Amino acid sequence: MEQLLTESLQLDPLTRDDYPWLCALYADPEVMRYIGSGVRTEEQSLASLDFLLAQAARLPYGYWVLRELVSAERVGGALLVVRREGTPVELGFVLSRASWGRGFATQVARSLVAHAFGVLQVPELQAFTDVENAASGAVLRKAGLRDVGLTHGPYGGIDRRFALTREEWLSASAARDATPGGETPVPPPRSRRA
Ligand SMILES: CC(C)(COP(=O)(O)OP(=O)(O)OC[C@H]1O[C@@H](n2cnc3c(N)ncnc32)[C@H](O)[C@@H]1OP(=O)(O)O)[C@@H](O)C(=O)NCCC(=O)NCCS
Repeated sequence: MEQLLTESLQLDPLTRDDYPWLCALYADPEVMRYIGSGVRTEEQSLASLDFLLAQAARLPYGYWVLRELVSAERVGGALLVVRREGTPVELGFVLSRASWGRGFATQVARSLVAHAFGVLQVPELQAFTDVENAASGAVLRKAGLRDVGLTHGPYGGIDRRFALTREEWLSASAARDATPGGETPVPPPRSRRA
């Protein structure tokens, strides 16, 4: 896994040193309001982080810890994960309450979409949101994913599924390139080897 950089954040591959901070994040009821069945016990968080760390040992993606560039303080986490063999890579993100509303999730989602399609060349990305999680849906749309309707989500409930194929991403980038005065295409993320 590589470290990725956005305008305001560095995305660092997860290490065990991050576990205590992340366990506290996943125990915050406001943060967990729309994720799975809510707050996680330390045991549940550790099991999930161990799974993601193990995945990162065999695949070029997994879990990134988000730190603000100006302070190097942790502000959240983001992931690219395959939960079940044969399913598309899933994108997800979570920010500490103090960091909401600053455009961080949008930066992270765009960076991971560009990394997944541009560098890793995955064929398709998907993401799931609680049907009431409008902010998360807004972030995914801004990162180019399409709302493809309601489905059974990864935690058993009914979620909204978002998806984007690499072909769609490449044609959208080409269309923006060809439009005079069109939106500037998202550049490939800057990255350093971890
Ligand atoms: C959802 C979450 C990731 C958003 O992070 P963020 O950094 O605040 O998001 P951004 O600032 O990049 O963008 C949020 C967008 O949602 C919009 N938004 C916020 N609340 C909204 C609401 N209730 N309805 C509609 N749009 C909303 C904002 O206006 C913004 O869009 P804009 O930039 O076009 O105005 C963050 O609140 C979070 O971590 N929540 C808890 C965990 C979670 O739910 N994760 C997602 C699981 S799928």
